Amino acid sequence: MASVDVVKEEDPTNNVPDPIYSKIGLQLHRSGNHPLGILKNTIYDYFDKNFSGKFNKFDDLCPLVSVKQNFDDVLVPADHVSRSYNDTYYVDAQTVLRCHTSAHQAELLRDGHTHFLVTGDVYRRDSIDSTHYPVFHQMEGFRVFSPDDWSDSGMDGTAYAAADLKKTLEGLARHLFGAVEMRWVDTYFPFTNPSFELEIYFQDDWLEVLGCGVTEQEILKSNGRTDHVAWAFGLGLERLSMVLFDIPDIRLFWSNDQRFTSQFSEGKLGVKFKPFSKFPPCYKDMSFWINEEFTENNLCEVVRGIAGDLVEEVKLIDNFTNKKGMTSHCYRIAYRSMERSLTDEEINDMQWNVREEVKNKLKVELR
Ligand code: PHE
Repeated sequence: MASVDVVKEEDPTNNVPDPIYSKIGLQLHRSGNHPLGILKNTIYDYFDKNFSGKFNKFDDLCPLVSVKQNFDDVLVPADHVSRSYNDTYYVDAQTVLRCHTSAHQAELLRDGHTHFLVTGDVYRRDSIDSTHYPVFHQMEGFRVFSPDDWSDSGMDGTAYAAADLKKTLEGLARHLFGAVEMRWVDTYFPFTNPSFELEIYFQDDWLEVLGCGVTEQEILKSNGRTDHVAWAFGLGLERLSMVLFDIPDIRLFWSNDQRFTSQFSEGKLGVKFKPFSKFPPCYKDMSFWINEEFTENNLCEVVRGIAGDLVEEVKLIDNFTNKKGMTSHCYRIAYRSMERSLTDEEINDMQWNVREEVKNKLKVELR
């Protein structure tokens, strides 16, 4: 999608740069031979098998949603950081690029669905490193229970839903990772209570697999399901794919390089990615006096706007405040292509442009 299709020209409330627009509609999760599509289908298989096809699947819902859908409908407080222009891409004051698939819970409930899975691309302004990219993919699961479901269990609705949620997701984790050790960690989401994270012990470390919980009553009530209870979960497909397929850098998911794409095929979860030779990174440091409005997310947007996927990491390596109260940051930018060696000349050109744009757009004083 091109920005001209959706952006009102010169709309001051639009903070979506062109490289982000160009990702809309690519739908990596709908390609059966792509790691994200393979993982999605493997999760579908688990739900089809255990719930005899009861879960309705949606993987083509438009990522442009209203502020109401993305935040209000799922009870995100008015002052929550995720609503800020620093964290979320706004197309205009009422429209965002969804920052989570939870944005679709309410409408699907209102449409009468009681069991559903929503897969899609989600968008977040963030810092840059090997596991963060401003576009990634999530799958949302949602299941509604009516009083008949839990009346004979001796539990109340919430306890019943929480128990079913944990059993279902432990089964999913075993389906994906085999016989792994797991633990539940209490957490907070605005739309669920209680809320949990599932972690698995994998390759010598605890790995967060997903967030989930028992849906807040208010969401059910507002969308035609008074007296019901429900559970919901959301998981990041890149995060899980990176460990299942041994994919070392999140930018690779977007690569059209045959040496990447040819390594994956339909139905084959967990085939280990064999890196083609890794090209050397090139590091460039830059220091400047920050101002009040400075944020790392804004810096990263500028760098990505110039270097695109050639930027691997932007890292704060020094931070001090002088006697006059001025604060200096030094960032180290790692440039690296996964496909070829970069020349000194092109890196120097990029770094020069980065310095100019950082100075002009972020109004900071280079040192
Ligand atoms: N939307 C949450 C996120 O993006 C994940 C989530 C979904 C948590 C559903 C609980 C229930 O982090």
